[in-house]
Amino acid sequence: MRSDANIAGPMADPVPGPRAAEPYRGVTSETPPPGVDVSRETPAPLDNAPIGRAAQIAVAALGQAAENLPRPEQTRVMVVANQKGGVGKTTTTVNLAASLALHGARVLVIDLDPQGNASTALGIDHHSEVPSVYDVLVDSKPLSEVVQPVPDVEGLFCAPATIDLAGAEIELVSLVARESRLERAIQAYEQPLDYILIDCPPSLGLLTVNALVAGAEVLIPIQCEYYALEGLGQLLRNVELVRGHLNPRLHVSTILLTMYDGRTRLASQVADEVRSHFGNEVLRTCIPRSVRISEAPSYGQTVLTYDPGSSGSLSYLEAAREIALRGVGVTHEDHEGVSAHLPGANAQHEQHGRPEGTQ
Ligand SMILES: Nc1ncnc2c1ncn2[C@@H]1O[C@H](COP(=O)(O)OP(=O)(O)O)[C@@H](O)[C@H]1O
Ligand SMILES: [Mg+2]
Repeated sequence: MRSDANIAGPMADPVPGPRAAEPYRGVTSETPPPGVDVSRETPAPLDNAPIGRAAQIAVAALGQAAENLPRPEQTRVMVVANQKGGVGKTTTTVNLAASLALHGARVLVIDLDPQGNASTALGIDHHSEVPSVYDVLVDSKPLSEVVQPVPDVEGLFCAPATIDLAGAEIELVSLVARESRLERAIQAYEQPLDYILIDCPPSLGLLTVNALVAGAEVLIPIQCEYYALEGLGQLLRNVELVRGHLNPRLHVSTILLTMYDGRTRLASQVADEVRSHFGNEVLRTCIPRSVRISEAPSYGQTVLTYDPGSSGSLSYLEAAREIALRGVGVTHEDHEGVSAHLPGANAQHEQHGRPEGTQ
């Protein structure tokens, strides 16, 4: 099951998981491989080290999540879209999905990008023979025949994308009800689900339109970089078009700031700009730039299982909590607790924090 992930991963490093020889940033139960020197002369007592506290908070969050978080009355279908590549769509889809599942929800990730990065990150086989979203869209195969359970995360499922999907954009053009094939497949899927997260390709073609017709909520990840808002107008116009003609329920419900680098003035300026533009839709939690987040997919894992105590893991857990609470109408909850410890949380107040893994 992990073969693709291994191919994609750094072949030079045979030891899965955080490397013990690196500076100690996360708490894991990994035993270092023989021969690796991990001695630290005066190790700080775990409880007093910031990372020790973070890990304890993560464990507490993981343990208590199920009872803390309300589940939606109906399945929430969230379309993770932004036609720019590399802004964190896939990373956000898989880590939010895992966070929601760890919070006790049943979650399906639909990988709608022919690259299949979400499938890889979830450790799901997606070579060209695997039944996939392509078969669902083009051959009307039932979704239930392509969905696979995600290893290691209970309650998390994935409908994988194979490279075949690259041709679907063109093949769909001549098919009946070409914009609503994903919606029909989802409606016919009978398994109970709390959330469906759809990872879109970096374009506004028929695949993304199928997602926008199938969902009610659009989640836009925005990278905290220069030009962050450029091109968003086009996405928003497409959302309006689909709402006007094909799906009146559709709305932008959630904006998530990603790759927030607390050391730079630019990141906080971008965060301020996005907040003044979008207001309430922007989650209070930002996702910090984190080496752990970017390493996890090459091991076929989300950051939640790869390094649960890392700031990236904690921030996705917290973003998931916000999304779950907003879903039941709680928007001004008390953010004491986990979020107070996150770099990048409440970005406008925290301009000088260092992102994890960059010291
Ligand atoms: N918070 C983060 N910190 C560090 N790297 C990140 C973070 N989020 C995403 N990345 C990395 O940025 C790249 C692009 O992210 P990805 O989620 O694939 O974007 P998209 O799906 O929008 O193209 C990937 O290499 C990913 O590992
Ligand atoms: Mg992607």
